[in-house]
Amino acid sequence: KIRSVIRGTGSFLPERVMRNRDFEGIVETSDEWIRQRTGIAERHIAGEGETTVSLAEAAARRALDAAAWQPADIDLIVLATATPDNTFPSSAVQLQDRLGITHGFAFDVHAVCSGFLYALTTADMYLRNGQAKRALVVGAETFSRILDWEDRSTCVLFGDGAGAVVLEAVAAGEGTIGEQGILVSKLRSDGAHQSKLYCDGGPSSTGTVGHLRMQGREVFKHAVGMITDVIEACFASAKIGPEAIDWFVPHQANRRIIDASAKKLGIDADKVVVTVDRHGNTSAASIPLAVDTAVRDGRIKPGDLVLLEAMGGGFTWAAVLVRW
Ligand code: ACO
Repeated sequence: KIRSVIRGTGSFLPERVMRNRDFEGIVETSDEWIRQRTGIAERHIAGEGETTVSLAEAAARRALDAAAWQPADIDLIVLATATPDNTFPSSAVQLQDRLGITHGFAFDVHAVCSGFLYALTTADMYLRNGQAKRALVVGAETFSRILDWEDRSTCVLFGDGAGAVVLEAVAAGEGTIGEQGILVSKLRSDGAHQSKLYCDGGPSSTGTVGHLRMQGREVFKHAVGMITDVIEACFASAKIGPEAIDWFVPHQANRRIIDASAKKLGIDADKVVVTVDRHGNTSAASIPLAVDTAVRDGRIKPGDLVLLEAMGGGFTWAAVLVRW
């Protein structure tokens, strides 16, 4: 039996910061409206020459450094993005090339804001069935490139960035909750909700990239229920309650969704990692960015039980329980 253990984390944000006030000349909005409704104060926006793959590379190199690994140690790359550099090849193989890796295999996973947890779970499967030994899992996005900058109800919500973890296959023990590694993973989707949050272009339908479209109130209405359901399924599989969690790292879309989910689940507010105020919603990058922030500032430590959660376009939603 094999378990996947996280050996290092890394993240990268573009240098350019856009504060709420910077929107005031672009659309009719205010710092106060954005803060009150979302908790967002600022977000990073990719500059000229920066792309999803370049952000992914920077985050990946930091995760490799944290583990003291070389790129050649990696034999699997799973990259989650909804904003790839090209329709094909995958951003994962472009990243593989930038890292100088010519062995193993690499592919993208697409589940929008849940992408990182889908990618992490996919990599975990390959490690556990012996098809790879050391995996690099990345969430990287440049949502600024698919925003309608005239739509105030969406353009203020998103940011760009990338986060990464490196995972190693190790021999598992008895399968107890105390063991290090990915312990439980629950993935969900329901395409009946696709019109509530989508991109209105694509190679086969319009031949264009399109823009993000969202019925914000509809997303909000479903978010807390879906998030808490999948987490409760995670708790049931692990036979634990909310008090067992050391850190809760939710997808960073909206402060009100985060607070309402933690409250409904009975997770203490001081165990919740929040970065949405500084990053905005970075889609698939949001969880690994938040994880890396909390690892580097000393909150997440070896031995901690960490609950990751995501919900996004599709809808897709997911929860993963990891012993650090
Ligand atoms: N500035 C000022 N006013 C605005 C802005 C803005 N940026 N955007 C919308 N408004 C206005 C609307 O036009 C509307 O005005 P009206 O009453 O005159 O028609 C008013 O504010 C209220 O709009 P609502 O959409 O009802 O506002 P709500 O309180 O629902 O907040 C928000 C909107 C923040 C988008 C909220 O619905 C939300 O957070 N939804 C979840 C979205 C989300 O988290 N998506 C991501 C999850 S999935 C993923 O991560 C991809």
